[in-house]
Amino acid sequence: MMGIRIVGLGKKLPEMCLTNDEIATMVDTSDEWIKTRTGIEKRRVSVTETTHQLATQAALEALKESGLEAEEIDLVIVATVSPDTNMPSTASLVARNIGAVKARCFDLSAACSGFIFASEVAISMMKQSHYKNVLVIGAEVLSTRLDWSDRGTCVIFGDGAGAVIYQQSTEINQIHCIEIGTDPEGAELILLPTQTEKNKFYEGEIKRPVISMNGRQVYAFSTTKVPESIKQVVDKSGLAVEEIDWFILHQANSRIMDSVARKLNVPKERFIKNIAEYGNTSAASIPMALYDARKQLKPGDKIILSGFGAGLTWGTMLLEW
Ligand code: ACO
Repeated sequence: MMGIRIVGLGKKLPEMCLTNDEIATMVDTSDEWIKTRTGIEKRRVSVTETTHQLATQAALEALKESGLEAEEIDLVIVATVSPDTNMPSTASLVARNIGAVKARCFDLSAACSGFIFASEVAISMMKQSHYKNVLVIGAEVLSTRLDWSDRGTCVIFGDGAGAVIYQQSTEINQIHCIEIGTDPEGAELILLPTQTEKNKFYEGEIKRPVISMNGRQVYAFSTTKVPESIKQVVDKSGLAVEEIDWFILHQANSRIMDSVARKLNVPKERFIKNIAEYGNTSAASIPMALYDARKQLKPGDKIILSGFGAGLTWGTMLLEW
């Protein structure tokens, strides 16, 4: 049997912490509104740290935990929608920084589902090829892509990075099932234009590219699609939802997690939340939440990881700790 196990986890956050009260001095909002509508109390914001630097630090921690040498990493995939450069890939910069000189490297863009999409790609490649040790990172510096005068988005997002190392194993299989999906009809509900979408022949005003979002429609999509996707993955694995010990969802909104818990008829205490501390860190949120959750995970625990976001994309993965 060829199985996959997790041998290392890492997390890195920027130093600066920005509270709701501090944001309320910049836009017409309040700590009360942000807390009750989203569950967010503060977030980390990069002032000097770049996406690949955060990703590198998270990768180094995961590598240390795995006991592997950097040269043993065969593949690096970074899920991000806020890379420092379109070329080279963030993954190439991370591999260079950590000394993963034999790794194949690329980035993947699937927004807040990015970590699950990257895990699906990594695991498929591990099953079909000789790749033995694969580093998957979710890393974002979304604070540089925000309109800090738009209260509908600037209160939600935060920066950070989380890393996981998957390893082939002949004895253990921790990854039971992954399902990913896209609804392109909703492709424009969350937008982040590229850095330069106009050339020198364009005569209009060139705007700084920032995130815009139809929050209500994305909320409706996530509270419908996420429970469906979780049920599908649990069914496929031959389990019942009651047998799942922990649910680690993309940390977009505490109310979304509570709604998914109600729809699945699962106590909301089984949903891991770190959104109060970090806000929505897009592709970084699931590996960071897994990292934070692990002190309460016991061997054999069944865990659902589920991401959703721009694209519209979603992805769910069942793993056994
Ligand atoms: N402070 C105070 N008031 C606000 C704020 C704010 N920060 N933002 C919006 N409001 C106001 C609105 O103007 C509106 O006022 P009105 O009724 O006078 O028009 C009112 O609050 C309600 O606005 P809604 O947009 O309906 O607020 P809602 O309860 O839906 O919360 C939110 C907004 C938090 C964005 C929510 O819709 C949400 O979480 N959506 C999902 C986002 C998501 O999951 N994204 C995931 C993917 S992100 C990615 O892929 C990168």
